[in-house]
Amino acid sequence: SDKQRKDVRVWCDGCYDMVHFGHANSLRQAKALGDKVIVGIHTDEEITKHKGPPVFTEEERVKMVKGIKWVDEVVLGAPYVTTLDVLDQNNCDFCVHGDDITMTAEGVDTYHLVKSANRYKEVKRTAGVSTTDLVGRMLLLTRNHFRQGSAEYDIEKEAKSPWTGCSQFLPTTQKIIQFSDGKSPNPGDKIVYVAGAFDLFHVGHLDFLEKAKKLGDYLIVGLHTDPVVNSYKGSNYPIMNLHERVLSVLACKFVNEVVIGAPYCVTEELLEHFKIDVVCHGRTPIALENGKIDPYAVPKTRAIFELIDSGNEMTTERIVERIISHRLEY
Ligand code: CTP
Ligand code: C5P
Repeated sequence: SDKQRKDVRVWCDGCYDMVHFGHANSLRQAKALGDKVIVGIHTDEEITKHKGPPVFTEEERVKMVKGIKWVDEVVLGAPYVTTLDVLDQNNCDFCVHGDDITMTAEGVDTYHLVKSANRYKEVKRTAGVSTTDLVGRMLLLTRNHFRQGSAEYDIEKEAKSPWTGCSQFLPTTQKIIQFSDGKSPNPGDKIVYVAGAFDLFHVGHLDFLEKAKKLGDYLIVGLHTDPVVNSYKGSNYPIMNLHERVLSVLACKFVNEVVIGAPYCVTEELLEHFKIDVVCHGRTPIALENGKIDPYAVPKTRAIFELIDSGNEMTTERIVERIISHRLEY
């Protein structure tokens, strides 16, 4: 019977450095091929050996992957070349990877063992998003710096930002449906609302959303539009455009619903429309609209506003700084 049928356990592995919605989309497709998704993550040491040090530590990379809603288990220390032993040790039936070839430092296909044992399946790589592309967009912020220093990197060609050109990713309603859980709140659910940029979705956002979700039963995230984010972050921010930020946030297991282009000020109408019980914000500064109006004035007056301490110091700007120093070193 169905009840006795053993779960099909799917193994995925990789670096998962700078996790983006392309990674999430591969795990979503892996989940559809079985019942449970087990993700093996390479240690910092293993990655350094094969392609140079990662930008994010193994603790950060593990946390980001655990935050993705299609992931059931995470295992740190997966070998760079996937072995049949590692599949067996984790009771996995087969391994899933995107349709790009990955090689070891010696030029060996990292999946040759599982391929010849017929325990390998491929999913479609998400076009238009990659770590290289995101790094290029971030380096655009330091164009002058790079012109003066090591000039070999062609930033103009590589970088894409909503403010300088278009991202190569083509958002569709189909993709949003695939990422969405499609559930409305249940009657009586306590509804939590947060809003922000959520640019380059990171561990700080994840810790914040986990705490926000604990304040209620159903979490709605409002995403500000690109011009609004740019008006308070300046420079070339946001690095990821609204459509990309929607998918990154939807992939997070704590999030139930996303408002695509939320108003900067949390209004009476918004609170009524979504029947919001509590509104929260982290410890990062709250920019005033036109330098005057507190965007949380209405929920504060209603006494439904709460400050949350994510306990995490990560910010989008810190990631950009890390990328820049990383690029200068290697
Ligand atoms: N992946 C994907 N689509 C992307 C990027 C990655 O489907 N746009 C998949 C890879 O095919 C792999 C998994 O995500 O199955 C994790 O692999 P990882 O080694 O972390 O990814 P990279 O290929 O290095 O990702 P990137 O190029 O963005 O660094
Ligand atoms: O900066 P951004 O608008 O993306 O932040 C979204 C929300 O996440 C804000 O409420 C912010 O205070 C919170 N946050 C946090 N801890 C971090 C980073 C962001 O609580 N390290």
